[in-house]
Amino acid sequence: MDNPRGLFDLTDPALMNDRYAYYRRLREKEPIHHSPHGFWTLARYADVDAFLRAPQTSAATPQDPLFVALRGGRDAPAMRSMQRWMVVKDGAEHRRLRRLVARALTPNAVERLRPEIHRIVSGLIDDMGEGEIDLIGGLATPLPIAVVCGLLGIPVEDAQRCLEWTNAIANIVDPLITPQMRIAMNRAEPQFSAYVREQMELRRSHPGDDVLSLLMRKDADGDGLSDEDVIAQVLLLFNAGHETTVNVIGNALHALLTHPDQLRILREHPELIEPAFEELARFNATVQIIARQLSGDLVLDGTVIPAGSSVLGITGSAHRDPATFEDPDRLDVRRTGVRSLAFGSGPHACIAAMLGKAEVSIALTELLRRYETIEFATDDLQWHTRFSFVLGLRSLPLRVTYRR
Ligand code: HEM
Repeated sequence: MDNPRGLFDLTDPALMNDRYAYYRRLREKEPIHHSPHGFWTLARYADVDAFLRAPQTSAATPQDPLFVALRGGRDAPAMRSMQRWMVVKDGAEHRRLRRLVARALTPNAVERLRPEIHRIVSGLIDDMGEGEIDLIGGLATPLPIAVVCGLLGIPVEDAQRCLEWTNAIANIVDPLITPQMRIAMNRAEPQFSAYVREQMELRRSHPGDDVLSLLMRKDADGDGLSDEDVIAQVLLLFNAGHETTVNVIGNALHALLTHPDQLRILREHPELIEPAFEELARFNATVQIIARQLSGDLVLDGTVIPAGSSVLGITGSAHRDPATFEDPDRLDVRRTGVRSLAFGSGPHACIAAMLGKAEVSIALTELLRRYETIEFATDDLQWHTRFSFVLGLRSLPLRVTYRR
């Protein structure tokens, strides 16, 4: 590739401007690529999937002094919280945390939430009304935060400040961190912790059947989460459950509006919306890249990636791999047997995939049921540009009319 920045550069404007052409070149020229910047990239589905499942793939965050210093040091509040998140744990420690949280996120719990999700979506569509609306600000953003609050039994009036605190803390994983972000995250974490502690105190005297009460419960054998671990996993649920869902809703509707034949199929057959989730999530994945470190050598297709390497699994490219998906650049809501990597793969695959899927499917179903016409209100859409691990729209201005 005639690119002075090397075959893969996160800051290359070509990656933002035409990411799928960029990924295609990578898959064709060097699907397992060692970047001059030191890290490795994987562009094919089979390699990304095998890498995410491999036992020597470690989710632990880099412990190099620069990473830690840029975030305020190992004892800074946001760093102390992050070190407890299940998403950065390996092996037995990860399995224990995941099991204790999964007790609360059962298929039954998701089924019980469905009517509440319907109610929230309907209310948001009422509030957006007709004419010009912004789908991201009016529905995609408030929906998941209200759902996580409902899940945890936290008053919805507190959703906005929880969102502000958790967004500030979530910046800790941003590779392009600024001093302002460092200050904001370390200010937000103690405030968020104090708030969750208050909520926990309320439940000690009056435990409920909400997820926060369940996270605080000990197992029959006495095993359970410490208060600090509960607070850190609650923060993770807010973070992991929010931006992902916002962007899946925005990206799915964008894909449908740019493929009117596919939109028509879903309008005529709303029962296909839920099964089409995997295809919509494949087509424009929210999480485009999953980063890991290797604790041992990993051999992929004859290439040895040495222990200690940083590896980026480009799920966005894996989703367009013709070796796995026939005619991968075509959106086909009737496509069957799609196994996307939208929820990841291996031990850290999304713990709440059923919930995410329910939120997105209910939102799309209600939008198509309530609005007879939906069209772009601008031809100048603004995508997030600073951070290319995630693909999503800043806003999605639409012109809509209700069905009469
Ligand atoms: C459609 C929406 C969603 C998408 C696309 C999504 C995507 C993902 C992905 C790709 C991962 C794997 C990350 C990795 O391997 O590093 C993940 C993990 C996770 N997700 Fe989701 N997610 C969604 C919704 C949710 C929701 C609603 C929640 C909670 C309320 C949630 C909680 C989590 C947690 C806690 C993990 C970490 C699991 C672990 O480390 O074992 N996600 N998600």
